[in-house]
Amino acid sequence: MSLEEKVGQMIQTDISRASPDDVRRYFLGSIISTVPEGTLGTSEAWRELFDGYQRAALETRAGIPLVFGIDAVHGHAYFDGDSVILPHNIGLGATRNPKLVRRLARVTARELAATGIRWTFAPAISVARDIRWGRTYESFGEDVELQKLFAAALVTGYQGEDLTADDTVGATAKHFIADGATDGGVDRGNATITDADLRSMHLPGFRDAIDNGVVAIMASFSSVNGEKVHGSKGLLNDLLKTELGFEGVVVTDWEGVRLAGLTMKQGLDAGIDMFMLVESWATGLPEIIRLVEDGEVPASRIDESVARILKMKLRLGLFEKPFSSAACAGTIGSEEHRAIARQAVRESLVLLKNDNEILPLPKDRRVIVVGSHADNVAYQSGGWTKKWQGAHEDLYGHPARPVAGATSIIDGIREAIGEDKVIDAGVDGFSEAADVAIVVVGETPYAEGIGDRSAEALVLNEGQQELIRRYHAAGKQVVTVLLSGRPLIVNDALEQSRAFVVAWLPGSEGSGIAEVLFGDYAFSGRLGFSWPRDAGQIPINIGDEDYDPLFPYGFGLRYESATEASN
Ligand code: BGC
Repeated sequence: MSLEEKVGQMIQTDISRASPDDVRRYFLGSIISTVPEGTLGTSEAWRELFDGYQRAALETRAGIPLVFGIDAVHGHAYFDGDSVILPHNIGLGATRNPKLVRRLARVTARELAATGIRWTFAPAISVARDIRWGRTYESFGEDVELQKLFAAALVTGYQGEDLTADDTVGATAKHFIADGATDGGVDRGNATITDADLRSMHLPGFRDAIDNGVVAIMASFSSVNGEKVHGSKGLLNDLLKTELGFEGVVVTDWEGVRLAGLTMKQGLDAGIDMFMLVESWATGLPEIIRLVEDGEVPASRIDESVARILKMKLRLGLFEKPFSSAACAGTIGSEEHRAIARQAVRESLVLLKNDNEILPLPKDRRVIVVGSHADNVAYQSGGWTKKWQGAHEDLYGHPARPVAGATSIIDGIREAIGEDKVIDAGVDGFSEAADVAIVVVGETPYAEGIGDRSAEALVLNEGQQELIRRYHAAGKQVVTVLLSGRPLIVNDALEQSRAFVVAWLPGSEGSGIAEVLFGDYAFSGRLGFSWPRDAGQIPINIGDEDYDPLFPYGFGLRYESATEASN
């Protein structure tokens, strides 16, 4: 291969910023699919789009196939059709069920492959140590125990038994390393951490991912003790590649090198193999070529990366089968997939309070259902759904997108007890028509640093608090369902609720919640995060000195005796 051909392989750009002709001319190695802005809507249309790019890659002299990647972090959630949206990782952590989580990753893999995508930028195996962090919900929990429980399950779920099969995708363990350990929970911030803590709390899941053959690992935007990970030879080359023996592809985060204020040379020297250069590929690519031509970066460094990238493509079977397969097309949004997701929703629910065993609710009585999150499938799905910040009209003014095929919480309740028994009081209405009010409230969607909050801001908004207060004051039995990407300070709401359920960000299968509220299934979820008493306690983690949370890590009530779950 020529130098140009090699360097092209090291570039990943975004589908909206490069044409098939660019692939042909610059030998680009990979494409990330941010959602094509127009609606394609069907798996055929997606496959056609990617196959068009693939044809261009195969027309080049070396004919090396492209690999298409996407942020499928909770199902094929960027697909603009009726794909299944899975609970975010914080909910998976609460299940404590790696077998189920492996099956969820199989669901995602099939739905991705059905649209021609063979690589996901998941799983995030972050250990979030400070719930002020906007990515807390991408973490299973605050302790390495959960990273260890789930890293291998997700990697083997995505990658299946045979990576060349039509229903598997390559996985990316991210973000290496200690992304959840930054001071103050600041996204892309700096982790002040000892080597011992780094290795014991943030590394074991990466080791498991590697042992299970993960094809890629993404560098973290953050820094460790003042050094940007993207430029750290000690972390990427020495620790990850040499000491841990990782033989796959080290990929940058989105414009990770540039956004970290580093040069391409620093990224190359550190050990980056593939550069996610979305906005800047047209300048970054010639820059790498120049660095090699000028002798600033040895050709052997390029060869090492290209060998890793080609090996990944070989492992994915792309040389034999470069074009998409329709084999999984029928699985998108299938009843089988929804049933697995619904099980995950049920198992992710954590019961914090159940006074007088008000739950399970009887099915033969009317209930009031109210709250901003009761009938909003965008809110219940959270960030990374249909677009970066979530499917609602976001803070950038990007219009809402449908979460096709999803079931809202109230719809699930209607399914469970019959439409005639559900009094819909809307977002904030008041009704006297029943004794029980299910109030569904929580955070609105966000992703990454956009979700960073002060400890004091980790509360329900005033309107939501007022709603709970009002129903309580009217003598209603309030059952609060909280949809949230992390614990919130909800002392008053807890006080005013007979029962309090944390549903995290459940995704498209809202009926899983009613199935547990009305007793078809039992509660089994357990907290992956310590629940603070007040803002002053944040950050709080199991193992802290003077550990005294409102609800400890591992807490979760059950129906039978309403005693604390013990396993
Ligand atoms: C995020 C990554 C993601 C990447 C690609 C970044 O902003 O940090 O988690 O995989 O974008 O979209």
